[in-house]
Amino acid sequence: MAGPDAELAQTLRAALAQTCNPETVDDLLAAHSNHLSRHGDFSRWQNHLAGLPPVHRDWHIDGGTLVAGRRVGKAEALIEHLRSFIPWRKGPLRLAGVNIDTEWRSDWKWDRISPHLDLTAKRVLDVGAGNGYFGWRMLDQGAEAVIGCDPTPLFVIQHAVIRHFAGPAANHLLAQRLEDLPQTLADFDAVFSMGVLYHRRRPIDHLTDLRKRLKQGGTLILETLVAPGDAAQLLPTPDRYAGMRNVHGLPTVALLHQWLEQSGFSTVRCVDRTATTIEEQRSTDWMPYHSLAQALDPARPGWTVEGLPAPARTVWLARSVSPPDSAC
Ligand SMILES: C[S@@+](CC[C@H](N)C(=O)[O-])C[C@H]1O[C@@H](n2cnc3c(N)ncnc32)[C@H](O)[C@@H]1O
Repeated sequence: MAGPDAELAQTLRAALAQTCNPETVDDLLAAHSNHLSRHGDFSRWQNHLAGLPPVHRDWHIDGGTLVAGRRVGKAEALIEHLRSFIPWRKGPLRLAGVNIDTEWRSDWKWDRISPHLDLTAKRVLDVGAGNGYFGWRMLDQGAEAVIGCDPTPLFVIQHAVIRHFAGPAANHLLAQRLEDLPQTLADFDAVFSMGVLYHRRRPIDHLTDLRKRLKQGGTLILETLVAPGDAAQLLPTPDRYAGMRNVHGLPTVALLHQWLEQSGFSTVRCVDRTATTIEEQRSTDWMPYHSLAQALDPARPGWTVEGLPAPARTVWLARSVSPPDSAC
């Protein structure tokens, strides 16, 4: 193991030293490396990662933008390397002085969530972390360590790119699905699942798995799409939804409340409901493909091209009440 992987191994071991045995961490790292190296673009990404210039590594948040690494020499070569990791979806980011205008204004989502949280000294699991943008926001808000997981190799590589500039902070990202993580990776103070639930064929299994990762009394932060309506119902999304594949139905707020209680959560609260706008999710120079604007029906405001209600997202807080099945 060399380079960014060696650094990940070192910082992950430190982050999990109190809660997991060394064999578990070794297994996690091996699964992470295997998952990434099977991808057809892995060698190309590795070459671009290796071509990134050495920088003075640091990071901070500036008005919602993750700013990482001090500016180096000429920007052209750096921009070419950074563009090889397109599409950049979650941000905004500024890496060594290069502004990456990501598809999502993820800072707007964080602004809706963060007022409801105290992450001071908390150990956090971020499920479906994307490139790990939110992990930096969590650390900035006082979290002790963030372990993220995401099965999409490009996003995990983008996280390694960001760490190249930010340095070896306690924001880790494993190339794994939640359901493939060992059950012993548990006992977190807070677990986030943002933008994942509607991609799961069995949402209650996902919620139950999230609950098992929490310590007794720990907090789930769930962010997910909902359907309009007061009754406890599931809106079927048989083909695509807003251009997305693999959306397995949208619950109403009432149904999602029931799912959370069924999965062993108490004190369930929906703290925000916001319609997604084409200002928050859009094509940019760094995500030059179709985005939300192309998924909405121009002739029918409030509806998608599939004839379904346009995306509205909710934020939920809930407490784990059932004892976890296992711990490290
Ligand atoms: C819509 S994105 C949301 C990213 C980020 N959490 C956010 O809110 O902007 C969903 C992410 O979940 C990841 N994902 C999909 N299935 C997953 C699973 N079973 N376990 C963990 N992550 C998953 C995808 O790779 C993708 O990066």
